[in-house]
Amino acid sequence: MGPGATPGKAQTAGEGLVVALCWLGAGLLLLLLPGAGGDCQQPPRFVFAEPPVPTQPSYSVGTRLKYRCRPGYTMDKDKSPLVTCDTNSTWAAQPDFCIGKSCGPPELTNGNFEFTTNLLFGSTITYTCNYGYRLVGKPTATCVLEGSQVSWDNIPYCTIIPCLQPPKIENGQVTDGEGDFTFGMTATYSCNKGFALIGEATIHCTMDENLEGVWSGPAPECRVVSCKNPEVPNGKRLSGFGTKHTYKNTVTFECQPHHLLSGSSVVTCEADSNWNPPLPTCDPIYCGPAPQFPFAKLLLAVGESSPAGTVLSYQCKPGYAAAGGKSSDVTCLDNTTWSADPDFCTRQHCLAPTIANGDVDAKEFLLESVVVFTCRPGYKLKGSSSAKCVVSGSGVDWDTAPPSCERQLCGEPPTIDNGLHNGTKATAFVHGSVVVYKCKDGFTLAGAAFLQCLAGERDQGVWSRPAPECRGGANIIIVGLFPLLLAMLIMNI
Ligand SMILES: *[C@@H]1O[C@H](CO)[C@@H](O)[C@H](O)[C@H]1NC(C)=O
Ligand SMILES: *[C@@H]1O[C@H](CO)[C@@H](O)[C@H](O)[C@H]1NC(C)=O
Ligand SMILES: *[C@@H]1O[C@H](CO)[C@@H](O)[C@H](O)[C@H]1NC(C)=O
Repeated sequence: MGPGATPGKAQTAGEGLVVALCWLGAGLLLLLLPGAGGDCQQPPRFVFAEPPVPTQPSYSVGTRLKYRCRPGYTMDKDKSPLVTCDTNSTWAAQPDFCIGKSCGPPELTNGNFEFTTNLLFGSTITYTCNYGYRLVGKPTATCVLEGSQVSWDNIPYCTIIPCLQPPKIENGQVTDGEGDFTFGMTATYSCNKGFALIGEATIHCTMDENLEGVWSGPAPECRVVSCKNPEVPNGKRLSGFGTKHTYKNTVTFECQPHHLLSGSSVVTCEADSNWNPPLPTCDPIYCGPAPQFPFAKLLLAVGESSPAGTVLSYQCKPGYAAAGGKSSDVTCLDNTTWSADPDFCTRQHCLAPTIANGDVDAKEFLLESVVVFTCRPGYKLKGSSSAKCVVSGSGVDWDTAPPSCERQLCGEPPTIDNGLHNGTKATAFVHGSVVVYKCKDGFTLAGAAFLQCLAGERDQGVWSRPAPECRGGANIIIVGLFPLLLAMLIMNI
């Protein structure tokens, strides 16, 4: 603070002192307060406050003027209304030390208001009405001075939006609501006896974008609606059994067994007295041609298609017998397929064949199976080596008689010079036969005397070895003398 602060403080005693000091003259003040900036000019003007009157052309530094709030304004309790002539010759004041008086929130039934700053003197608000109401009057208001107080210069009101009377209809009337209809109210129609109400029975009062009252939809119609008693061939009703059918009545259908429903099973009587969707149809279900089986044949011929529920009888083909516990009937099902027990006929068995001296090779003896016959070694197969189980008469049998296994025969045993065998009288040499060779007198047997008939590779048996030889007597002497002569020769030496 400069030196001027001291007299400034002294002046707090009152305005009178300030005035008095002024009267003493500026020159004296300047002398008393060397270095001061001088006087303040006209006190500042505020919209919210005014200086004490009368004002003076100049005020000495340190002067404090107590301002008064103008009408519509009131003191801000936290601020000072004193405006001070500062040392640098300007007026200093706290900003906005008077504030506008408040108009307070306006009361608007069924409506509201919006403001941008506040509700104080000078401010402006905008009114809006609740949904279904419209504003009567100016939509804005300003907080203005009225006498010494402030108040809103305009308070409009919100009226509920009215609708015209609900439309009158023929053969019916509105059952509720006498008098005026306003936003949110409903009008409910009913029809005279014998008439059906088409459309919405109840409409309500609403509004359009221009805030005009309008009905939510058109009034319903009262009309005579009568649908024909519905008949569906091969069908029956599950509901809606009566004969009189009016608006929105429904009938539910089902088809008789073995029939397929096409269309909708539920139909509704509509305003035009027609059923909607159209009545369904019940169409018979068919299966295709009779199925064919390798083991059975149809007893009676049928056409290319048969209605569902048809039962066809089959008979087992020759060689097959009815399988126990299974039906030979085939039924046309509702899903258009034929149903049959699987393999209701089974193949019959042939008797198991046997052969002497041979074997039967077979897995089974059922119809169509084949058996193979083989003979034991030394036997040859006579007849067919295999047989097939085939249909025979009303049953099954082998297509050929089983073969026989006959012993293999060897040919005549070979004859030899100067000897013979004991088989000359025999008629046949079977497997295992033995012949014995003998030489005539004076001959000796060279080789084995026995030959045996063995199993051959083909039909024929074979002798076990070549026949022996019968050698002459001279030979025997030579052979017998040779060692003797040799010995004599050695002894002579
Ligand atoms: C002098 O006046 C100016 C405004 O012109 C003000 O901002 C400043 O605070 C004043 N100085 C003093 C020392 O009061
Ligand atoms: C038909 O119905 C039968 C019995 O209900 C069923 O076993 C068979 O799989 C069905 N066939 C078809 C093609 O749907
Ligand atoms: C020949 O003799 C043998 C030995 O005595 C006898 O086993 C065999 O059966 C006879 N053969 C014939 C064909 O009679």
